[in-house]
Amino acid sequence: MARRRQLYEGKAKILFEGPEPGTLVQYFKDDATAFNAQKKGTITGKGVLNNRISEFLMIKLAEINVPTHFIRRLNMREQLIKEVEIIPIEVVVRNIAAGSIAQRLGIPEGTRLPRSIVEYYYKNDQLNDPMVAEEHITAFGWATPQDMDDIIHLTLRINDFLTGLFLGVGITLVDFKIEFGRLYENEDMRIVLADEISPDNCRLWDAKTNEKMDKDRFRRDLGKIEEAYQEVARRLGILPEAGARDMKGPETMQ
Ligand SMILES: Nc1ncnc2c1ncn2[C@@H]1O[C@H](COP(=O)(O)OP(=O)(O)OP(=O)(O)O)[C@@H](O)[C@H]1O
Ligand SMILES: [Mg+2]
Repeated sequence: MARRRQLYEGKAKILFEGPEPGTLVQYFKDDATAFNAQKKGTITGKGVLNNRISEFLMIKLAEINVPTHFIRRLNMREQLIKEVEIIPIEVVVRNIAAGSIAQRLGIPEGTRLPRSIVEYYYKNDQLNDPMVAEEHITAFGWATPQDMDDIIHLTLRINDFLTGLFLGVGITLVDFKIEFGRLYENEDMRIVLADEISPDNCRLWDAKTNEKMDKDRFRRDLGKIEEAYQEVARRLGILPEAGARDMKGPETMQ
């Protein structure tokens, strides 16, 4: 396949021009970063697993009418997506206290929150992705009040659905981060789920033991990182039969 024009290289993924106008190819790397890229490393096979896990979850979400950017998986590390205008907000949903909310508010990690809490962070690496209120988002025009209505509704549906889906395979969905974008079709604009949903941006704990099965294993040097990502894929029923085999295999392999 002719090499595509690279449009953007991020910390975890590369975006290439897609085969048709309005499409992109998202390539999933094994690179891992934490604490705003102060900590860097590689998780072997992560890109392959995240590509599959995000595909699986976006397809499931589309089945309950959550619009997403996902079109189809192309190979082990690449998926075809609809190009959207990314809303520069990271939407975080928390069901159980962990990470920054535990630290900032002094809530012991593992405490179930009184209800699911939605937080917003302004996507700006130079500023360290600061937390912002809906007031900032609408006042500065990053999203309109109508966009925010759609985003909140979709986010809560996504949380309910994914919480149940993961619980069904013995995993507690502690929290997660998602991104949305504007998709223009003819005269219409729709807010759609973009980016990825994977153990890179979810906290996933084993429902019985509370063992961490996500990027916190990398952030906190807990070891068995590759195994944790594989176990998530295995429980979702999407790991190729032979398990970890070929995770570094040729990217054209299906
Ligand atoms: N459908 C889409 N259309 C356009 N851009 C997208 C789409 N889905 C995701 N993106 C953007 O592609 C990039 C994915 O790369 P990656 O996740 O590696 O970035 P990153 O290093 O986390 O940087 P950023 O702070 O920009 O998210 C992100 O900037 C994300 O917002
Ligand atoms: Mg990202």
